[in-house]
Amino acid sequence: MKVAIIGTGYVGLTTGVSLAFLGHDVTCLDVDESKISALNSGLIPIYEPHLDELMKLARHRLKFTTQASDALGAAQVVFIAVGTPSLPDGKSNLSYLKSAAQSVGQFMAAPHVVIVNKSTVPIGSGNWVESLVRDEYREKNIRKSSEFSVASNPEFLREGSALSDMLYADRVVVGADHAASIQVLRDLYQPLLEQTFDAPSFLPRPENFKAVHFLSTDLQSAELIKYAANAFLALKVSFINEVAELSEKVGADIVSIARGIGLDARIGNRFLQAGLGWGGSCFGKDTLALISTGQEYGLNMPITQAAREVNFRQRRRLVEILAGELKILKGKRIGLLGLAFKPNTDDLRDSPALEIARMLLDRGAQVVAFDPIAMKRAQKEWSDVDLRYADRAEDVFVEADAVVHVTEWPEFRTLPYEALKSVMRVPLVVDGRVGLDRDRLVSAGLKVIVLGKSS
Ligand code: UDX
Repeated sequence: MKVAIIGTGYVGLTTGVSLAFLGHDVTCLDVDESKISALNSGLIPIYEPHLDELMKLARHRLKFTTQASDALGAAQVVFIAVGTPSLPDGKSNLSYLKSAAQSVGQFMAAPHVVIVNKSTVPIGSGNWVESLVRDEYREKNIRKSSEFSVASNPEFLREGSALSDMLYADRVVVGADHAASIQVLRDLYQPLLEQTFDAPSFLPRPENFKAVHFLSTDLQSAELIKYAANAFLALKVSFINEVAELSEKVGADIVSIARGIGLDARIGNRFLQAGLGWGGSCFGKDTLALISTGQEYGLNMPITQAAREVNFRQRRRLVEILAGELKILKGKRIGLLGLAFKPNTDDLRDSPALEIARMLLDRGAQVVAFDPIAMKRAQKEWSDVDLRYADRAEDVFVEADAVVHVTEWPEFRTLPYEALKSVMRVPLVVDGRVGLDRDRLVSAGLKVIVLGKSS
């Protein structure tokens, strides 16, 4: 099928490249000239493992353009994958969605077009998009007779594992009020639903993975599934972090607790990793949007509110732990291991590292950080923060009064802690991601404080 993708961010690019790999002709549209020219020269503007390799395999079915007419004229399916960032009041900024919908109305020309909201959009946006497209279409295309319908197809991709989350998805959710649109999307995803595509060597099909669930429902339900999924995942992490604080007090071990409850099939063992909690572009935005939507209908959404409160307190708790250990933070030198909001990405959005660094700097500490992938982006996006950057992970230990494990990049587990202890001013490590080998660090002579374990 001929597919257009509006927006070449994490979601748009992953979706476009994957659909091209599955055999469709895909044109990706973005207003950002630099992004499009980078893509046209084969460069990927984001860090997503294997995206470049998959793009090479699908390159002959992929086009990148800033011209809406090129992308939308022949498209049978148009994915809107633009950002819907939070506004200060918690509502979603829908200006990008609006201009995308209007471009579709102006340039679509195929006899039947399915317009798919891939972006996370507030409940009820499907109908709004439909009216925007219709108004624009009527105004700009008096003579043409394209028919179109709007569907919701929320994404569940995790940064760092987006391609396997797409190709080997737990489910594809499609919401639409017309059975024909549901069928078009079922046909579009058929190679993925039935796993008939040849798995790329670098993204092998999981063993016994045979098919992907296809759930079709109405528009509102599909839109709410996205919010409910992210809010529940955020809640699960905050729940284990709430229990972690208690387990520190009573001398319990949060890793054992997580394992003990996770073995219950009804709970499951994923998203029970205690630590600094969640960051990224989705959990914060989507929990805020869910609360804001609830309030529009007079609902308070207390559980989702609590998930946010517990989560953001983790960052403050870590600084309080440092202040408790070092007494005065002013003039102290604190090393941060990791800046990205999680490993395997260069994404810094709502990263705990930034808030922790700002709190430490506000208290007069000196902060030096290392991240294997996200540092270049940090130097650009956090240029207003007086953060120092180390060339190697080991350098954040030099003359440090404490080193904090902020992002669980695998390489931080295997640092030469025995040697690093001797270059520190105070041999203190705070494991904010409950991921270091505590016994090894203690035997190296370091004092180790782990979120969720009594020190
Ligand atoms: C999330 C959802 O998982 C995905 O389905 C949705 O499409 C987009 O938002 P993402 O934000 O990329 O994906 O990352 P994810 O792996 O879900 O982690 C989210 C945050 O939770 C990260 O900051 C991570 O460090 C944190 N986390 C995750 C924990 O603190 N503990 C866990 O056990 C799992």
